[in-house]
Amino acid sequence: MKEIRLGICGTGTVGGGVLDLLTTNTHLLSDQVGAPIRVVKIGYRSNKPLPSNEEISFSKDILSLADDPEIDILLELIGGVDIALALVRKAIMNRKHVVTANKALIANHGVELFSLAEKYSVSLRFEAAVGGGIPIIKVLRESLSGNQISYIAGIINGTTNYILSEMAVSGRSFSEILSEAQELGFAETDPSFDIDGVDAGHKLVILASIAFGIPLSLDELYTEGVSQISIIDLKFANELGYKIKHLAVARIADSRLELRVNLALISTSHLISGVDGVGNAVLVQGYPSGETLLCGDGAGAGPTASSVVSDVIDLARNLILGQLDQVKPLGFMPTTVKSREISSPDLVATPWYLRIEAEDSSQVMSSIAGILAERKIGKQTVVSKVVDSNQKKIQIVIITSPSAAGNLCAAAEEIASLDSVCGAITKIRIEDLPSRKE
Ligand SMILES: NC(=O)c1ccc[n+]([C@@H]2O[C@H](COP(=O)([O-])OP(=O)(O)OC[C@H]3O[C@@H](n4cnc5c(N)ncnc54)[C@H](OP(=O)(O)O)[C@@H]3O)[C@@H](O)[C@H]2O)c1
Repeated sequence: MKEIRLGICGTGTVGGGVLDLLTTNTHLLSDQVGAPIRVVKIGYRSNKPLPSNEEISFSKDILSLADDPEIDILLELIGGVDIALALVRKAIMNRKHVVTANKALIANHGVELFSLAEKYSVSLRFEAAVGGGIPIIKVLRESLSGNQISYIAGIINGTTNYILSEMAVSGRSFSEILSEAQELGFAETDPSFDIDGVDAGHKLVILASIAFGIPLSLDELYTEGVSQISIIDLKFANELGYKIKHLAVARIADSRLELRVNLALISTSHLISGVDGVGNAVLVQGYPSGETLLCGDGAGAGPTASSVVSDVIDLARNLILGQLDQVKPLGFMPTTVKSREISSPDLVATPWYLRIEAEDSSQVMSSIAGILAERKIGKQTVVSKVVDSNQKKIQIVIITSPSAAGNLCAAAEEIASLDSVCGAITKIRIEDLPSRKE
């Protein structure tokens, strides 16, 4: 019986998890594929302990795996873009199938790499690139194919979800929880990709490309980070029946596509609001499927390895049967992929949460009401709380009617310029998610 030979580049969290899974479930995998799957070579960099197995060869020359004739499928699990891109390009050009977990690579270079893979009649799979152990790529590309997708909303970064959940539960500050997350290994030493929304943005454009048949592009993506969040907003949100999440949204509204990563208040009655800690979730609204919600472990060795290995199994089966991969990497036929009009962030309309710190006077309320009315921004809820009775300061929280960001921000600036208002206005979108109520 033929065997499928793997070359693994990178032996970190994901690479280590893949090696464990392949060792633990060896028989299960060969039963599913119809042939043994064997790791023949590992590319590594530092001198950390490596698995001792005399059947495996090791190389510090990572690019050498891309032209090793012994390897059928190359697993790129090193991350980053430069070396990973060179490695994947070279492997494809040597007619090797490739599996990667690298969202930055796919979001930035997917267009080139998929077309190169097509040219060389090989596959490039990337299930682990979004949602870790959640099989969202396959679900969107294959199980939900045939649906008209209208809305994707995802909690797709475990680090920011952990920070926001812990802040809400413990009342501790953003920086304190971030340091704790770094100590626990949930956040990188340089966490900027996560907390600035870059990582979630990479994942969102991959999902949007599959869901809407648009080219992979980061050009018109709007991203907002989480570091401006404060405890007081999490508390007010809770009192009003919301949780604050860092949400990646691709939504069709007024026949344009919104592509945005932003903080959002979501109702505690929605199932997705219960996804806390490092958990991830993706909600997909399609016609006629309705709403589909997938939740699970968005990161970590085991869950991510599960996604990587499921790609390996698909490719291994094709190799055994001598078939080309019938699945298009982004679902759509490359010739039918076309751009859509992306909404300008200023025009994206949702309800808003506004928090205003002001002097406690009847005049301030009527001035704020006047500014909002002039801009046709309705008020659905208004709460005011005395925060400092000595200095006569109050916090005013307003939930607005759906309003375009540009108009809302202009109103907030006007409000901030009132003499009786102290400092900037906090503005957070409210995401009115489709159904799936508890
Ligand atoms: N961690 C997760 O839960 C998760 C989830 C989904 C997707 N991913 C993606 O999976 C990929 C790997 O992530 P990870 O968490 O496993 O990272 P990691 O723990 O930092 O491991 C990366 C591995 O690649 C090696 N490496 C890095 N650059 C290299 C180079 N130039 N040449 C040779 N080896 C190199 C590292 O070697 P050293 O030991 O010398 O640093 C390390 O063994 C990334 O694309 C990430 O975005 C990760």
